[in-house]
Amino acid sequence: MAFQRACDISEFRDGQAVAVNLDGIDVAVARHEDEFFAVQDLCTHGHVALSEGEVEDCMIECWLHGSRFDLRSGKPTTLPATEPVATFAVQVNGDEILVDVSQTLNGVTPD
Ligand code: FES
Repeated sequence: MAFQRACDISEFRDGQAVAVNLDGIDVAVARHEDEFFAVQDLCTHGHVALSEGEVEDCMIECWLHGSRFDLRSGKPTTLPATEPVATFAVQVNGDEILVDVSQTLNGVTPD
């Protein structure tokens, strides 16, 4: 486990993810109520940044074709994407969000 600082809680805006790069991996950090999640910032359908889409109901929606990915599991819940996105462990330390990109929670290898 190698948690590192990704962003601050104060950076989050309603419905928006925060895009960061950790160890060369683009990561979208998203908030749902008081919980934080991190997924690879890459739609598994068309390889565009998920962080540019909306976050709602613990889902992040791809802005290009509208697939929604469950932030907890990384699984797409709507087509056209069919493959899950990699998910990473998150810790909160005061105002800081820490993410561990050394391994994925759902076993999906980051692209
Ligand atoms: S590029 Fe994301 S759903 Fe098509």
